[in-house]
Amino acid sequence: MSFNIDNIPNQEGKIAIVTGANIGLGFETAKALAKKKVKVIMACRSIEKSNKAIDKIIKDIPNAKLETMHLDLSSQASIRQFTKTFKAEYTSLDLLINNAGVMLTPYDKTEDGFELQIGVNHLGHFLLTGLLLETMDTTKGARIISLSSMAHRMGTINFEDLQSEKSYNRLQAYNQSKLACLMFALELDRRLKEKDSNTISLAAHPGASPETNLVRHMTKVESFLLAIFKPLISHSNENGALPTLMAALHYPVKGGEYFGPTGFSETKGKPGKAKIAKRAMNKDVAKRLWDVSENLMGISYL
Ligand SMILES: NC(=O)c1ccc[n+]([C@@H]2O[C@H](COP(=O)([O-])OP(=O)(O)OC[C@H]3O[C@@H](n4cnc5c(N)ncnc54)[C@H](OP(=O)(O)O)[C@@H]3O)[C@@H](O)[C@H]2O)c1
Repeated sequence: MSFNIDNIPNQEGKIAIVTGANIGLGFETAKALAKKKVKVIMACRSIEKSNKAIDKIIKDIPNAKLETMHLDLSSQASIRQFTKTFKAEYTSLDLLINNAGVMLTPYDKTEDGFELQIGVNHLGHFLLTGLLLETMDTTKGARIISLSSMAHRMGTINFEDLQSEKSYNRLQAYNQSKLACLMFALELDRRLKEKDSNTISLAAHPGASPETNLVRHMTKVESFLLAIFKPLISHSNENGALPTLMAALHYPVKGGEYFGPTGFSETKGKPGKAKIAKRAMNKDVAKRLWDVSENLMGISYL
């Protein structure tokens, strides 16, 4: 199942939404898609940063088709406004890449009062996906790709304190959110299959690409340790984006597949199938998480 982005044919006519496309892995993903002639909607919380990213891509790919659309995943109102704006302009959507994320943030809440990491990484994308599903379902062969992480292996969905109101551990909250992203992708796949949907749901993780802004909330000690191990266990942002691009562009792929680097402990290397931890395959937990997410985000789908 080898994947080489250079062998992927042009995808002219396709439309993609990439959340958090202004920097890091989202930027590399948007750039590679634009290179393949996909029209990319840069769904970003800063218009200014997104426009700067577009300028940067256009320097390398002058005919790239890119458009900034404001999206703040920490606000239900913003997510709803984003989908309204998108649907007013477009009637199809081939690729939804749920990439944006925050990691190890000090305790904080979204505009709607949810803990920030689960709120942005999982709940925001849960609502976004639900609001875009109808448009994707009328698009032939549409794909939804959710970004998880190796951190999902250490995650637990703590239904007793999902929002970390009783106690907050920033690492546990990140692990939980990334497990939630993967469980969401798998549950979404099961539900789409049940409805014989056209759309498929996949997941991907980059391994370790520490040259992104994700590490901005690390402590000095964490940054020091990362600097020591970085050469052994990490790769470039460009390579980190490849599993996402494989999920988005590779043929054939099946709904429910999970892609990541295939090198040392999935931290780096060529993209391929990644290992899903047993805890992420628990269907009861996934169903309960879905129900809770529907309640919290005021949406019901599938
Ligand atoms: N880098 C890695 O090694 C690694 C490993 C495992 C998983 N991942 C996953 O890969 C994804 C991308 O991470 P990255 O490393 O590229 O991080 P990054 O450089 O920090 O980029 C994150 C993106 O998400 C955006 N974002 C954050 N909060 C948002 C919000 N409320 N609404 C909309 N957008 C928001 C950021 O916008 P601003 O620029 O405005 O802040 C930025 O565009 C994340 O889901 C992360 O969990 C990364």
